[in-house]
Amino acid sequence: METLTVGLGERSYPIHIGAGLLSRGELIIPHLAQPRAAIITNSVVAPLYLDPLKKALAGGGVSCIEIVLPDGEERKNWETLNQVYDALLSSRCERSTAVIALGGGVIGDLAGFAASSYQRGVPFIQVPTTLLAQVDSSVGGKTGINHPLGKNMIGAFYQPRVVLADTATLNTLPDRELKAGLAEVIKYGLIRDFAFFEWLEAHVDHLLARDPEALAYAIRVSCQHKAEVVAADERESGVRALLNLGHTFGHAIEAGIGYGKWLHGEAVAAGIVLAADLSRRLGYLGGPEVERIANLVGRAGLPVKAPDLGSDRYLELMGVDKKVVSGKLRFVLLKKIGLAEVCSDVPEPLILETLAGAALHA
Ligand code: NAD
Ligand code: GLY
Repeated sequence: METLTVGLGERSYPIHIGAGLLSRGELIIPHLAQPRAAIITNSVVAPLYLDPLKKALAGGGVSCIEIVLPDGEERKNWETLNQVYDALLSSRCERSTAVIALGGGVIGDLAGFAASSYQRGVPFIQVPTTLLAQVDSSVGGKTGINHPLGKNMIGAFYQPRVVLADTATLNTLPDRELKAGLAEVIKYGLIRDFAFFEWLEAHVDHLLARDPEALAYAIRVSCQHKAEVVAADERESGVRALLNLGHTFGHAIEAGIGYGKWLHGEAVAAGIVLAADLSRRLGYLGGPEVERIANLVGRAGLPVKAPDLGSDRYLELMGVDKKVVSGKLRFVLLKKIGLAEVCSDVPEPLILETLAGAALHA
C-alpha cells in the first residue's frame, strides 16, 4: 500500500492506494465519528463490493445502512440526490453518521454533495472503484450533480476524511470505462509533467492490458499531482483551473448530446484534442505536438474527434462553464506539452475555426 497526503491543514487527509484495501476496515474506522455509517453505492457496484466493505467494517464493530442508487451519469441529478436524503432521514442518520461513497465519480460526486448538505455536513469517505475516480474525482472535494442546462452546476467543495483506492476493484471495470479514466491520467502529463506524458506514450499498452504495476504507478503519479494542486488552490482561484484541460469542450459535449451517451472521460479526451488545436491556432503548440497528443489519446482507445453539435450550440453550452468570468469564456490551453495556462481573451474566430475543424472531422 502507498499513502499520499492532501495537505489542507487541519482538514488534511490520506489517500491509500493498493490492491485489496476494501477489506481493511482499519483504514476507514479511525475516521468515523460513531460506529454507524451510510454506504452510498449503485446497482452495478453493490453486487461486487458492498458486502466485502460491510464485512470489513463490521469486523471493527461498525454497522452500515445501504443506499443503492440507479447507475448512470444521467441519474446524477436532483431526483437521485433526494432519494439519498430520504434514505438518510428515514434511517435516522445523525450528524456524526459518516457517508461512505462506494463507486465511480458519479457516486462520489453525488454522495459527497449529500454529505456536505445533510444536516449541514456529515463526515465523508471516498472508496473509488473506477480508474477515473481513483486518479481524479475522489480527491479534492469537488462534489455535485448535473443540471439539464449544465454539467456539475450544483454542488459544493467538501473534502473527504480519507480516500481508499483499492486497485483490485479495477479488475471488474469494463474496458470502455478503463479507457475513459485514462483521459484524466493523460491530462496530468499534459498540464504539468512532460516526463509522465512520455512514460504514458511508452506504457499506454501496458495500462490497457491492466498491468498492475503500470496501473499502480499511473494512479500514484496522478494522485500526487491532484493532491499538490488541491493543496495549493483548494477552491480553484488559480492553478486548480488547469485540471479542467479539455473540460470546457468536454462538458459541452456531455450536456449537448445528452448525459450518459458519451462517458465523461471520452468527452474530456475529445475536448483535450480541441484544446490542443486551439493552442496551435494561438501559436503555442506546433502541429507535430498536436499530432503527438491526438496520437496518445487515440492509442488509449479514446475519441480524438468531437461530435458536431454546431458552433452556435457549442458556444451556448460553453457559456455555462464554471470558468466563465463576467460572461467571458476562459480556456485551459497548452503552452507546450507539460505546461498549461488559463487564457481569457481567446479571439472568437479562432474558437470557431477549432469548432469548424470538429465539424469537418465528425
Ligand atoms: P461512473 O461513476 O458512471 O462509473 C462508470 C461505470 O462503471 C458505472 O456504470 C459504474 O456503475 C461502473 N463501475 C464502477 N466501479 C466499477 C467496478 N469496479 N467494476 C465494474 N463496474 C464499475 O463514471 P466515472 O468515470 O467513474 O466518473 C465520471 C463522473 O465523475 C462524472 O460525473 C464527472 O463529472 C465526475 N468527475 C468529478 C471530478 C471531481 O473532481 N469531483 C473529476 C472528474 C470527473
Ligand atoms: N477535476 C477537476 C478538479 O478537481 O479540479
